[in-house]
Amino acid sequence: MLANKRILLIIGGGIAAFKSLDLIRRLRDQGASVTPVLTKAAEEFVTPLSASALAAQKVYRDLFDLTDEAEMGHIELSRAADLVVVAPATADLMAKMANGHANDLASTLLMATDKRVLIAPAMNVRMWQHPAMQRNLATLQGDGVLVVGPDEGAMACGEFGPGRMAEVPEIIAAIGAALAEGPLKGKHVLVTSGPTHEPIDPVRYIANRSSGAQGTALAAALRDLGARVTFVTGPATVPPPGGVDVVRVETAQEMAGAVKSALPADVAVFAAAVADWHVANAAEQKMKKDSSGGFPALDFVENPDILAGVAQMGEGRPRLVVGFAAETESVEAHAIAKRARKGCDWIVANDVSPATGIMGGTENAVTLITEGGAEAWPRLPKPEVARRLAARIAAALG
Ligand code: CTP
Repeated sequence: MLANKRILLIIGGGIAAFKSLDLIRRLRDQGASVTPVLTKAAEEFVTPLSASALAAQKVYRDLFDLTDEAEMGHIELSRAADLVVVAPATADLMAKMANGHANDLASTLLMATDKRVLIAPAMNVRMWQHPAMQRNLATLQGDGVLVVGPDEGAMACGEFGPGRMAEVPEIIAAIGAALAEGPLKGKHVLVTSGPTHEPIDPVRYIANRSSGAQGTALAAALRDLGARVTFVTGPATVPPPGGVDVVRVETAQEMAGAVKSALPADVAVFAAAVADWHVANAAEQKMKKDSSGGFPALDFVENPDILAGVAQMGEGRPRLVVGFAAETESVEAHAIAKRARKGCDWIVANDVSPATGIMGGTENAVTLITEGGAEAWPRLPKPEVARRLAARIAAALG
């Protein structure tokens, strides 16, 4: 099942490293080739010679091995694989990955790679449960890193609980799943997300309460199905996902320009909460209170409707155009009317009245409006809404 797949296997320094030698053997049994990379600490647990003998390949160990640079540079090494696997992924390696360190060969390869990364964590149960570890794990998952395990059980250190590296067959199954081609492979999906900021003067702006959480989760879910994602985001509070092309904008007009430049796309999803107007007479200098104490008059001009523009563009229109509808009452009726008015294929409608806690919150209750009618989905965490929507998008593209 893994015939001709190239695995770059980074072995971290933990007692579970002995299992990684078996992993090399089993991967090769399945037809994969394995290039092992050993951290300094790993060499305390397994020898480069045994890894090299089992892999029938050169083992890479040191960033500053100039002979290696001449043969194959570290950038090339990080990319000449179909998948990067870190097993065991120690607490230290995961902390480095989460924080973008690049101070040895393993961490540099992980920073430089353009391939998916699968980690098999292994550490003491207390270390695994430590808030710093869990923070790093959440960061890595947000960046699109795949995780297998850890398992629960008796550990070499004598304690019991989660932290034991996943067994080799489990890691191989996860590698198989990571290498499976997603249904959106080869498709370009454009996602807009977050609020826009419309300047009043150089220090003040008009904004809205969108956090960007739903658009971010959606971009990640589409990426996980194999799509190439261009993520055009306003100033969101949630950081953008890893593994997507991020275009940062501030105003609605900038967002419209970025969307235009990102086309063509197979699918366009407009999750951004775009300001409907911008201030026509935005001041060049900071506005001062005037002596009369009067409120300065702002003139508003309507912003381009980015969704409607793309939905109605005729030639070059994405095959599927999906809009969102933020409503505070009569959600379904407004959303059905909005779908017709904007000319998009689907509308994902949500009730953003403050009592729902949806805007800026972690959950969403959406109604999907398609040509076939309205479907009310249960209230779910935003990543789950995203996964369901991404699966529907993949199914629609057939
Ligand atoms: N949208 C857009 N460009 C705009 C305004 C909205 O692309 N200038 C998109 C949003 O990203 C969303 C959809 O249009 O996908 C609907 O946004 P919403 O704010 O609910 O609707 P409005 O068009 O602002 O309509 P209304 O103010 O009547 O609710």
